[in-house]
Amino acid sequence: MTISRDEESRKMRRVSSNPEETRSIGAEFARNAPAGMVLSLIGDLGVGKTEFVKGLALGLGIEDQVTSPTFTILHEYRGGRLPLFHVDFYRLRAEMELDEIGFDEYLNAGGLCAIEWGDKFANRLPSDSMKILFSIDAGCRREIVW
Ligand SMILES: Nc1ncnc2c1ncn2[C@@H]1O[C@H](COP(=O)(O)OP(=O)(O)OP(=O)(O)O)[C@@H](O)[C@H]1O
Ligand SMILES: [Mg+2]
Repeated sequence: MTISRDEESRKMRRVSSNPEETRSIGAEFARNAPAGMVLSLIGDLGVGKTEFVKGLALGLGIEDQVTSPTFTILHEYRGGRLPLFHVDFYRLRAEMELDEIGFDEYLNAGGLCAIEWGDKFANRLPSDSMKILFSIDAGCRREIVW
């Protein structure tokens, strides 16, 4: 795992070489995350967004196994330092589906909210949500920037 700070843009950048490293980057992130934080996870299919959320759960001390909420839109995990709300916008077709699950209440529930494909309905996220950008570098290397 390499760590560097781009001073000009004040961005944090991590490079991960395997899924375990992506999870530990997520775990480290979650240990410092304040209640109510909303993360918009952005990057192509298979880039490691769900692996990162598995790491968020580890860092919060959640013992449940995290699985992708692709079909159910939202999974909720309790029992850690903060509740973790794991959302996936990928299969959402209409914004209305967010109202059906009471999405806005989760944003304000004092947890850590991690939203895969968050840019798809970016207008539904708070203005202070944090974008985490994932890209595939070469082979298994993933770059994670926020
Ligand atoms: N460095 C890495 N970090 C994360 N995942 C990696 C890495 N190298 C290989 N992989 C593999 O890439 C895949 C990442 O899958 P993951 O479900 O996390 O992607 P995703 O971004 O959530 O995709 P989707 O948009 O379909 O939800 C896994 O199969 C994982 O084993
Ligand atoms: Mg995923």
